[in-house]
Amino acid sequence: MNQALLRHPHFVSLEGGEGAGKTTAINALRDWLQAQGHEVVLTREPGGTPLAERIRALVLTPDAGIAGEPLTAEAELLLVFAARAQHLSEVIRPALQRGAFVISDRFTDSSYAYQGAGRGLDLQWIADLERRVVGLLPGLTLLLDVDVAIGRARANGRDLWPDRIETEQDDFFQRVRAQFRQRAQDDPLRFRLVDASQDQAGVAHAVTALLAQWMAQEATA
Ligand SMILES: Nc1ncnc2c1ncn2[C@@H]1O[C@H](COP(=O)(O)OP(=O)(O)OP(=O)(O)O)[C@@H](O)[C@H]1O
Ligand SMILES: [Mg+2]
Repeated sequence: MNQALLRHPHFVSLEGGEGAGKTTAINALRDWLQAQGHEVVLTREPGGTPLAERIRALVLTPDAGIAGEPLTAEAELLLVFAARAQHLSEVIRPALQRGAFVISDRFTDSSYAYQGAGRGLDLQWIADLERRVVGLLPGLTLLLDVDVAIGRARANGRDLWPDRIETEQDDFFQRVRAQFRQRAQDDPLRFRLVDASQDQAGVAHAVTALLAQWMAQEATA
């Protein structure tokens, strides 16, 4: 299925549901890579460029910021891919070309999980968009996996107001989690599953150990 997609060894994504601890874990990865003397670009999706961040606001603001005109699932999918196209050309590809590590807080796997499994859109359509618009896979994807209720409780503790996605019900997030786990199972070369129910220090230790292990493996490949 993914034969047409290029995997870049310096491109790392973090995936997982709400409150899994992605944003927290990413900082540990950056510190570790920088200590090894690497240039690191931390970025996130949807977003990562000024224009893509405006698209993010459309996707995540309740009512897309426009009361009375709900964003359709199809429009949501195309907006996240529009943001991704911009992100790739403005940030990800140039950084990889100059030899930096790129660590992205979410990437295309989130489209399969949220717009595919969550919203019920055709996964094949997402795969087509991935091939035509993205063409690139992370070399390594760390999936921070945690019980939906635990993740949501963490996110609720953090946010004053829930975003458009966070207002969904638990069954939506159960489908999201199941899809992430399925994708990890289907592509064990790229994915590493991290038990995100551990405390923050435990998760930070686990993700840095997995990155170190993977870099060592790449160096001898
Ligand atoms: N392992 C952990 N144990 C307990 N609390 C945590 C842990 N990791 C993160 N948190 C806290 O939970 C909240 C959510 O963490 P974070 O923002 O990193 O999650 P996230 O995966 O980026 O979520 P989202 O998908 O909503 O952006 C934060 O307040 C953070 O401090
Ligand atoms: Mg986050």
